[in-house]
Amino acid sequence: MSVSVDLKKGPAFCLRTRHTCYTMHVEQGKFLLHDAYVPSRKGVAEAKQPPYRSFSPYRTDAGPELSADIVLSEFPAFGSGDFRGDAVRVRNPEGNETTCFLYRGYRVLDGKPQGEGLPCARPLPGCRTLVLTLRDEHTGVEADLFYTAYEDTDVLIRSVRLRNTGKEAVRIENLKSLSLDLYPAGNWDVLDLYGAHCAERMTERLPLGHARVVMASSRGASSHFMNPFFVLCDRRATEDRGLVYAFNLIYSGNFENTVEQDQNGVVRVRSGLHPDHFSWLLEPGQSFRAPEAVLTCSREGLGRMSRNMHAFVRRAVLRPCPTDRHPVVLNTWEGTFFDVSSAVVREYAADASRLGFDMLVMDDGWFGKRVNDRAGLGDWTPNPGRFPEGLPEFVRAVKADGIRFGIWIEPEMVNPDSDLYRAHPDWVIASPGYMRSESRNQLVLDFTNPAVVQNLKEQFEKTFRDVPLDYIKWDFNRHLSEVGSSCLPPERQGETAHRYMLGVYGLYDWFARTYPGVMIENCSGGGGRYDLGMMAYSSQIWTSDNTEPSDRVFIQYGSSLGYPAEVMSCHVSNHGGAIEKERNREFMFAVATQGVLGYEFSLKNVSMEAKEAIAGQIRRYRTFAHLVEEGDLYRLSDPHATGRSVFYYAGQGQKEILFTYLQPAPLAGRETRYRIHRALPGKTYTDLFTGKKYTGAELREGIRVRPDPDSFSFLQMYLRAEEE
Ligand code: GLA
Repeated sequence: MSVSVDLKKGPAFCLRTRHTCYTMHVEQGKFLLHDAYVPSRKGVAEAKQPPYRSFSPYRTDAGPELSADIVLSEFPAFGSGDFRGDAVRVRNPEGNETTCFLYRGYRVLDGKPQGEGLPCARPLPGCRTLVLTLRDEHTGVEADLFYTAYEDTDVLIRSVRLRNTGKEAVRIENLKSLSLDLYPAGNWDVLDLYGAHCAERMTERLPLGHARVVMASSRGASSHFMNPFFVLCDRRATEDRGLVYAFNLIYSGNFENTVEQDQNGVVRVRSGLHPDHFSWLLEPGQSFRAPEAVLTCSREGLGRMSRNMHAFVRRAVLRPCPTDRHPVVLNTWEGTFFDVSSAVVREYAADASRLGFDMLVMDDGWFGKRVNDRAGLGDWTPNPGRFPEGLPEFVRAVKADGIRFGIWIEPEMVNPDSDLYRAHPDWVIASPGYMRSESRNQLVLDFTNPAVVQNLKEQFEKTFRDVPLDYIKWDFNRHLSEVGSSCLPPERQGETAHRYMLGVYGLYDWFARTYPGVMIENCSGGGGRYDLGMMAYSSQIWTSDNTEPSDRVFIQYGSSLGYPAEVMSCHVSNHGGAIEKERNREFMFAVATQGVLGYEFSLKNVSMEAKEAIAGQIRRYRTFAHLVEEGDLYRLSDPHATGRSVFYYAGQGQKEILFTYLQPAPLAGRETRYRIHRALPGKTYTDLFTGKKYTGAELREGIRVRPDPDSFSFLQMYLRAEEE
């Protein structure tokens, strides 16, 4: 059983997964305290609470040992003597923000409540949810804290709902989905995934001191700049060893994750909505649900932590791909940019189907007056000059070539030069009296307004009627500024950013339901919404607009820390004719097969020889795609530290292994041994690419690779154990 309650101890609560244990208890019938979260099913023999120190205020009914300033708190509130970062802050009718939640009771539910308009983890068979209820007596606001344990993947899900059972309205000024106090003190590092457009998910690992670390986005999107996934680990933790905690949020909007260390060495980790652009009016009888936070811990280093997250995301978050395998796509963007038309795309399709692609994706430029990025967003009708036969007939003709068809959309945006904007200039995120800042010549539609979302549904319904679509690429190419909504009253303007996300999720949900067989690939100028909220609706995400393989090695390494390869969409491109050079072409392929393979260039001027090689690559990829999509990832080398990304995927009970060595830039030095320690010692493996044989013991000893003085060096081996 993953949830247990001991009524004699306060009560005390325990959530167990296969290798972790999370415990808390209630003191004096009122104070909900955290005990421990550890990578051991047994938990800790005796949880330690930090000592009292001067200057820490305490309630006289509790005594100094229970001072809010020092205890390990499960749901720290603002303003009642805990001076660390708060998980909840409610402005009461008197206008101050003093908040104090005391324990009231618990329930255990079979399964797991779903998200009330938010994306959330699916319950897996047998899972149960612990709900702890606390109450702020003065305002009558009650908090339900939700905990669900995912046994096999060592993941916990936490979330919070506030209900106003009082008589007067209050305002939620901060609400975190997760607050976790870790003690005793240690030497900790924080690892985050920072980045930029075209350089997403770089890694930085910094020692934790006593200054609060804040990893956040207030851009209206999770963003390229800081991903919601982060790690707290022992300073000595490596890929294979050491204590590691990891956290993520199932949300795509503004978020704030923090880590801080207090006077006693207690480390507080928080994750949830960003308090900037957030102030929520909660009338009597209303409730507010925070996004779900994901947490895992392991004593087996970063590698095990990633595998926990990967397995969990694949099983419980990611929208399943409607086809058996993710399709190998040919995308028109880098080859054609805005110049798509029936003739151009049909040529792409004919070539693509000859070479064995699964899918042709028509990117931007097919609708309204969208011949460049200055016009057309918001007008989702096909350009009749470019598609004279109409979309249904055009798509049928493409598919007659025996290839599936995908299309690009960017529903949340509008160009001022569009019929939609001319008809409804008030349908955008804006603040009256302030200029509407543009980015890529576009404004953001006000998704807090149901009329806007309804208009888009009607447009897409009409445009895609009778169109046999297989895939959509849903893009989002700017962030929110001058945040305000013309459909919300002044006292609810602080709800705009979160209500915007609820509107977006509503449209995603409608798409998924209306077109159940259509795969969604999420995109935001590349990987600007590479988050679990989007993964709940999409089967894969465009990793980055940067398709240079030497940069991709780093982007994909960072992505692999928190997210499975199955979601990582990777394209081979043709910058400067690279596809014609065998070494470049094979290197790009080896890089792109770290995730879901695709291609992005025009085949028009590609030589016969290169085309045949591409067809061969696609055939080769199909033989091992199941390992990329479902295998367990073992990283052997961090490219930031060594200039090489080396990893393998193991599957079919370790009988199959796909080993990849990627060295983007020239390197000197001695050869390195890469140990494939998951190889089965008693077996003999054959590299299906070369026919060469290795014993499992040899593979465990290590594959020796000498650094290459040239760039674009790689080695890929597909090892399969022989059946007895
Ligand atoms: C974004 C995407 C690209 C492409 C363009 C189209 O930049 O990331 O892949 O779809 O938009 O405008």
